[in-house]
Amino acid sequence: MVTLQYDPALLEARSDPFPLYRRLREEDPVHWSKALDAWVLTRYDDVVAVLRDKRFSADRARARNRLAREAMATAEEHGQPAARANTMLSSDPPEHTRLRLLISRAFLPNAVEKLRPHINDIANELLDACDEPGRMDILLDYAYPLPTIVIAELMGVPAEDRAKFKRWSDDIVATLGGGYGRPELAERAAQSGGEISDYFREVIAARRREPKEDLVSVLVAAADQGDDLSEGQLLATCVVALIAGNETTRNLIGNGMLALMRNPEQLEKLWDDPSLVVSAVEELLRYAGPVQCTARVATEDLAIGDKAIKKGQVVFPMVAAANRDPAHFRDPEELDISRQNNHHVAFGSGIHSCLGQPLARLEAHIAFSTLARRIPDPRLANGALEWAPSFILRGLKSLPITFAA
Ligand code: HEM
Repeated sequence: MVTLQYDPALLEARSDPFPLYRRLREEDPVHWSKALDAWVLTRYDDVVAVLRDKRFSADRARARNRLAREAMATAEEHGQPAARANTMLSSDPPEHTRLRLLISRAFLPNAVEKLRPHINDIANELLDACDEPGRMDILLDYAYPLPTIVIAELMGVPAEDRAKFKRWSDDIVATLGGGYGRPELAERAAQSGGEISDYFREVIAARRREPKEDLVSVLVAAADQGDDLSEGQLLATCVVALIAGNETTRNLIGNGMLALMRNPEQLEKLWDDPSLVVSAVEELLRYAGPVQCTARVATEDLAIGDKAIKKGQVVFPMVAAANRDPAHFRDPEELDISRQNNHHVAFGSGIHSCLGQPLARLEAHIAFSTLARRIPDPRLANGALEWAPSFILRGLKSLPITFAA
C-alpha cells in the first residue's frame, strides 16, 4: 500500500486536491506532512477549533519549522517588509486587534455597498473590451482586472499599474507556505517583494506630502497621529491589502467558472435565474474556494485528537478540506448552487476571519451575474488547464472559453 503523504509539490495538490483531502480526512485527519515539515488538518471541527484556539499563534516567526525559517531568511535578504513587520494576518492580540481596527472601517459592509454601481460599470466595460466574437479568457480578460481595479482605486494607486501588481502578487503568493524545494520561486518572490515595497514607499511619501481620500492616506494619518503603526507595518499593510484584494477574488471567479462549466446543469440553473447568485457564490466559495489553508504555530505542547503537537510546530488548517467534510455538509462533493445553511469556512474562522468578505462577496455577485446576463452558453475552450504554483492559493493561470456570440 502506498503511504498517505501530503506533498504540495505534487501537481494534484493544486489541480485536484479533493480526493487527497478526502483520504486524509478519513484515514489520517491530523497528518504529519514530511514535505511541509508541519501538521495538516482536514476535519471541519479540528480546523475551526485551531483557528479559534488562543494557544495557536498567527505569527509565523514563532515557528521552529525549517521551511518557514528558510522563506523568512530569503525574504529578509531582499528587504521584503512582511518578513520584518507583522501585518494583521501574522500578528496576535493585542497587536492584531489594533492593526485590524485601523483598516477595518474601509471594508465595512456599508462602505463597500457604495461601490456597487462602480463595480457594475467595471464588469461591463471589461466585457465590452473583449472584441473576439464568441471567445474570451475569463481570468485574463475579466477575473483578474476586476478586483485589481477595485482595490487599486480603494487604495489610491493607479489601476494602470495593474500589470506590475499582477507580476508582484503572482510571484509573492507562489511561495506562501514556504518555497518547498523551489529556490527559483523563493528568489523571485523576494525580488518582487522588494519591488512592491519600493513602490509603496513612494506612494506613502506622496500621501504624506499631500493626503487624499484613500486607504493609504488613512493609514499614513494613523501612523503619523501616534496610532503606534510602525513604518514597516504601514508598508506591509499596504502590500497585504493589495495582494489579498486581488489574488483571492480573481481565483474565486476563475475556479468558480471552471466548476460551473464542469457541472453544466448548475451553470444553466444560474444562467436561467441570476437571482440565485447569492447562494451560488457561497457554494462556489465552499466547493471551489481559492484559499486552501492558512497556517498557525503551536505556542505550547498540546494534543489534537491522539496526536501530540509540540511547541513551535506549524499546523495547516485546510479550510478547503473542511468545506467538504460530510460531518457538516450533505453530499459535500456535489456542487449545488441552491445549497442552504452553507456554513463554509472559505473565509477562515475566529479573529483573523477575512476582513475583505463584504467586498469579495459583492465583487463575486456582480462578476457572476454579469457573466450570466452577457455570456450565453460558456464552455471550456480546448487546451490543457495550467495551475499556478501555490498550494495555498489555488488558481488557474488562464481560463479560455467559447460562448454563443
Ligand atoms: C474570495 C475572496 C477571498 C477569500 C476566499 C479570502 C480568504 C481569507 C481567509 C481564509 C483569511 C484568514 C486567514 C487566516 O486565518 O490566517 C483571510 C484574511 C484576510 N483577508 Fe481575505 N479572502 C478573500 C478576499 C479578500 C479581499 C477582497 C480582501 C481585501 C481587500 C481581503 C483581505 C483580508 C485581510 C486583510 C485578512 C486578514 C484578517 C486578519 O488577519 O484579521 N480578503 N481571507
